[in-house]
Amino acid sequence: MARKNTDKVLFERIKVRDAGAKGVSVATAPDGKVIFIPNVVPGDVVDVQTFKKRKAYYEGKAVKFHELSDYRVDPVCEHFGVCGGCKWQNMNYNQQLAFKHNEVKNHLQRIGKVELPEFEPILGSEQQFFYRNKMEFGFSNSRWLTEKEIASQDDLGNRNAVGFHIPKMWDKILDIHKCHLQQDPSNAIRNEIRDFANANGLAFFDPRNREGLLRTLMIRTVSTGEIMVLVQFFDDNKTQRELLLDHLAGAFPQITSLQYVVNQKANDTIYDQTIVTYKGRDHIFEEMEGLKFSINAKSFYQTNSAQAYELYKITRDFAGLTGNELVYDLYTGTGTIAQFVSRQAKKVVGVESVPEAIEDAKANAERNGITNCEFYVGDMKNVFNDAFIAQHGHPDVIITDPPRDGMHKDVVEQILKIAPERVVYVSCNSATQARDLALMDEKYKVARVRPVDMFPQTHHVENVVLLVKR
Ligand SMILES: C[S@@+](CC[C@H](N)C(=O)[O-])C[C@H]1O[C@@H](n2cnc3c(N)ncnc32)[C@H](O)[C@@H]1O
Repeated sequence: MARKNTDKVLFERIKVRDAGAKGVSVATAPDGKVIFIPNVVPGDVVDVQTFKKRKAYYEGKAVKFHELSDYRVDPVCEHFGVCGGCKWQNMNYNQQLAFKHNEVKNHLQRIGKVELPEFEPILGSEQQFFYRNKMEFGFSNSRWLTEKEIASQDDLGNRNAVGFHIPKMWDKILDIHKCHLQQDPSNAIRNEIRDFANANGLAFFDPRNREGLLRTLMIRTVSTGEIMVLVQFFDDNKTQRELLLDHLAGAFPQITSLQYVVNQKANDTIYDQTIVTYKGRDHIFEEMEGLKFSINAKSFYQTNSAQAYELYKITRDFAGLTGNELVYDLYTGTGTIAQFVSRQAKKVVGVESVPEAIEDAKANAERNGITNCEFYVGDMKNVFNDAFIAQHGHPDVIITDPPRDGMHKDVVEQILKIAPERVVYVSCNSATQARDLALMDEKYKVARVRPVDMFPQTHHVENVVLLVKR
């Protein structure tokens, strides 16, 4: 039954039926339209107040819970529901995996419309918390206040915060005391900086007036135990900067790499900035199967190291290498997959658009004593052409791991033209992967599919597909 409230509608006793895109759940309204509802779990029965109506769907908010889903678990994190980070923390892990598996299946069936083998079971992550090796936090002098705090008449003191942006609020930061995504001493470092800065009058960034000292913080913790901390300052105040960095170095002698950047640009990206090493090295090392990968402040590295290892093993298994193959690793990043499969291949050619990543890839391969990997930089649709193939050889196997948008159609066309025996397609977006599989269907059949969960408590899912020439 629906009660009208101007153009907003209250739907009563609606059963949430599925997990939808981006961690928002879905239900069906009495008129047959879809309702998107955040912060509910499939199986919940709720009253929904809609706040947006479109031709095909509503967006709404659960205002009353009548029944709670059997899939529910108590979120472990005190920030759950306010912080946008772990939207599925209120759903048991097996069910998270089932929804991820289904999403991949739906995309491949509905968008790909290609013949599919039986899927191999989704590979869950052994670590369901504290699995991220990199976290980025923002500072703000305008802490996000809870409804309870606003309602109270108490003096809330200073509003300094270090934590995460509230979704869709560029100037509001949720002050984070304990995040369950990165292992210690991540929480201890962030909290120590907050306390020290407050005690010593160091200004947190004011995003509206663009002033203040402390802007962002990045912490990397890897399986070797090495730690990188990068503090981004807005003000170029040497005395205050050194006061904080000296304190950090003393309080956390285990930090391998302590770095900073002074950034007065409008945006806080560090990729075009000069980074200064204050103490220790300018890089840390991650290790996988005896291979060492150097990671600097700007390097891309898969954020869940343990599960990246599992992903790479599946990729190598799907590639079916015997030692005689010429392999192309497209979108190679810092060449981690290329090096990981290199012992089972004759030669591996990696291609990537970020020059610094290719420099890292070459340096890592050299340090690892790998001599059968070559790396080239450039935009894939331009580099991966007939002349490139003529120069580097005709691949037997292509491994491709594109960004979320999937492969450019010229890249797909080129793969079809040179038609290697096998293509292993690793993807973090099964919708664009499905689109690309459809384009390749004339020459390739899907032989194996295995989703991998790299990001427990979120809706994100990785998928590996083996394509075999027809
Ligand atoms: C999903 S990451 C894959 C990284 C790598 N395979 C790994 O496991 O670490 C995608 C990579 O594609 C690169 N990339 C994005 N657009 C590209 C393009 N047009 N041409 C070449 N590389 C591109 C990105 O810089 C990024 O390193």
